[in-house]
Amino acid sequence: MSHARSTSSVAPEQVDLRCRFGATPLPHPVMTASGCFAYGQQFAAFMDVGKLAGVSTKGISPLPRYGNPLPRICETASGMLNSIGLENVGAESFLRDKLPFLADLGISVWVNFFGEDMDSYVRCAEMLEAGRDRGIDVLEMNISCPNIKKGGIEFGTVPRVAHTLTKRCVEATGIPIVVKLSPNAADLPAMAQAVRDAGAYGVSLINTITGMAIDVRSRRPRIATTYGGLSGPAIKPIALRMVHQVHRALPDLPICGMGGILSGEDALEFLMAGASCVQVGTANFARPDIGLTIVDELRKIMAELGITTIAEAVGSLRPVEPEEPSSWS
Ligand code: FUM
Repeated sequence: MSHARSTSSVAPEQVDLRCRFGATPLPHPVMTASGCFAYGQQFAAFMDVGKLAGVSTKGISPLPRYGNPLPRICETASGMLNSIGLENVGAESFLRDKLPFLADLGISVWVNFFGEDMDSYVRCAEMLEAGRDRGIDVLEMNISCPNIKKGGIEFGTVPRVAHTLTKRCVEATGIPIVVKLSPNAADLPAMAQAVRDAGAYGVSLINTITGMAIDVRSRRPRIATTYGGLSGPAIKPIALRMVHQVHRALPDLPICGMGGILSGEDALEFLMAGASCVQVGTANFARPDIGLTIVDELRKIMAELGITTIAEAVGSLRPVEPEEPSSWS
């Protein structure tokens, strides 16, 4: 068995972390994920938020929402289950009260958005269009929330429906639209193809996977809605597989990869699977500044492996070298 590296290590300073998501330049590939970083401002107490490549906000709807009943979050083995129900301040308040802080950072501002039906998705895209010259770089269209009865998930599983919705939202705004796909879709490459054909700038994947947890003492579900979205390291192998499948099917489509990233090495796995950049989600709940630690770790692991640019890493997965069968005699 040979695992010899074909390249030799370099000094960390020789690693250039600059990269692109489509045509958009980024200083490095590490952003934070929607629903795990609020609107950014609260995190300024723990870190220099402006050192991230970007932030994806909590999902925004045309009107404010209070979300689902409590409890709506619980810890699971290597993960977290949530059913927040897309609580948010609504588009108007977001533009007025939350966007200025993010815009002032000079980083990539992705506004995650959704609606309860097609018309309200379009309405939200139209409302957020007002933020185009005020700092919004990308609208991340959420068709993958498993936690609300209307909207979200039904748009995320049928390619034809996702195509129509994406096309209508693309026509409603000049802001590039990245579609956040659902891991619950049967054929993710088909979903990615459908939204790309409709004008999507790229895709984010993956959102959470539907799950549940039970408190055996009370015999009750641990979250009020019974089912919720599982995130964290428990889902990383699934997320990697999905990023890889979409990248293999559509190598030119920009992918923002996420799902259980805890370290620079995790981030590098996503890049090698085909992501152009990554978002860090659940880990922020334990360590609010972990995004910046991951940037440092990414630089170190790339230096160790002699990878000097992000472009060299993206989609660079090699086939497995077959091992000699072991002998039992
Ligand atoms: O329930 C929630 O707010 C989760 C949203 C999402 O997973 O997109």
